[in-house]
Amino acid sequence: MPKKPSSGWRCQQCGYAAPKWYGRCPDCGEFGTFVEEISSRGASGSTNAAPARNTVRLGDVAHSGTERVPTGVSEFDRVLGGGLVRGSFVLLAGEPGIGKSTLLLQAAASLVERGSKVLYVCGEESVEQVKLRASRVGAADGIWLLPEVDAAIVEATALAERPDVLMIDSIQTMVDTDLDGVAGSVGQVRASASRLMRLSKIEGMTVVVVGHVTKEGTVAGPRVLEHTVDAVLSFEGDRDHVFRIVRATKNRFGSVSEIGVFEMGESGLVGVDNPSSVLLSDRAQGVPGSCVLATVEGTRPLLVEVQALVTPSYLQMPRRLAVGVETARVLQSLAVLERRAGLSFAQHDVYVSIAGGVRVTEPAVDLPLALALASARLDVSLAPGAVAFGEIGLTGEVRGVRHTPARITEAGRMGLGPVFLAASSASADGKPSLRPIVSVKEAVESVGR
Ligand code: TYD
Ligand code: MG
Repeated sequence: MPKKPSSGWRCQQCGYAAPKWYGRCPDCGEFGTFVEEISSRGASGSTNAAPARNTVRLGDVAHSGTERVPTGVSEFDRVLGGGLVRGSFVLLAGEPGIGKSTLLLQAAASLVERGSKVLYVCGEESVEQVKLRASRVGAADGIWLLPEVDAAIVEATALAERPDVLMIDSIQTMVDTDLDGVAGSVGQVRASASRLMRLSKIEGMTVVVVGHVTKEGTVAGPRVLEHTVDAVLSFEGDRDHVFRIVRATKNRFGSVSEIGVFEMGESGLVGVDNPSSVLLSDRAQGVPGSCVLATVEGTRPLLVEVQALVTPSYLQMPRRLAVGVETARVLQSLAVLERRAGLSFAQHDVYVSIAGGVRVTEPAVDLPLALALASARLDVSLAPGAVAFGEIGLTGEVRGVRHTPARITEAGRMGLGPVFLAASSASADGKPSLRPIVSVKEAVESVGR
């Protein structure tokens, strides 16, 4: 019987090695940094010089373009940058219950229909459960299933079966029996991932793994994986929202910040071609504290509603709450509104939310945010179709943002207007529905007019 390699524990912060796990590193004092590792590969190794290998001149490397295989699930392909790159290692991350398994199974079915061989490792569910979901989403019978959690067996099976695409659902269920840690621990996730990595990088298999993340992103697993994989696709928002947005947060073979928009239906995820219309469909018009932001996600313009609620505060420290936009952005907007436009929120609680569960990170949200806040504070509604985008600086100036024409076009396509934007972006064509704004003061003055 082969001897089980011994394992030890190592602090990921300072490298301190110990024979057992510590909650707090005795050396550097960091908490929760201990990870199990295979500690020795036999005493004989080490000091002998390794043999030299031939080096390759960069100019002599054959130029092989990346070969992309479209999955046929169009919104998924969009996030991937056109399809799965052959031999790539992709992580599909998200909260439990958001739709990772569903999307993966739909992609698998579509790949099989297009002639690929797909091996789906279901470590989380029985084959019967997968069958149940498959019949729900109308998945093809040609998908090969492997109910297994032992990473070594998965590796061996994949090498024997040689699928075009290997799918693992999920990485948290995989265990490497050489290690003692429980499934889902950082050490186990890393050890399993490195086996899968070999399949992708050396054997040229395309590997897609599912990874769970909690709302706080605290489960270490997927975070540990992010450095290893070629692409990270994350489900955004939570399962209570209409939309399931998949965003590429890392992509070695394509653009990041491209998004795919899905709706969870009775028979799986359905791509949404026109998210703006769905996002704005439930909007109440003529209510103070609402302004539409024309944002751009990747290359795609998207209209979302910025909502603000301002109420008298009975607290010593008035409340500031933001959903879908960074609290720091809201605090800055409040400060600029107070200082540059004379609108005080000192006695008010402020709540800000991006409707529909979309998260906005770009600075263009500043102008609609300021308009919504001013509108809520003054209790005066904006023009019913008001759209805005623009960054606001600390001196109160409104700055232009990229993709201005696309944003204006999207607003026009949805029949909205007027469009508030930086005066510097409004320039030549002078469309009547454009409302150039120079400063936050001017923005506040425009509310209700
Ligand atoms: P699932 O893909 O199992 O989530 P994850 O793998 O990320 O944990 O999907 C979870 C939810 O989606 C579940 O609550 C049921 C729902 N669902 C539908 O509404 N319609 C469907 O067709 C399917 C397959 C799932
Ligand atoms: Mg699942």
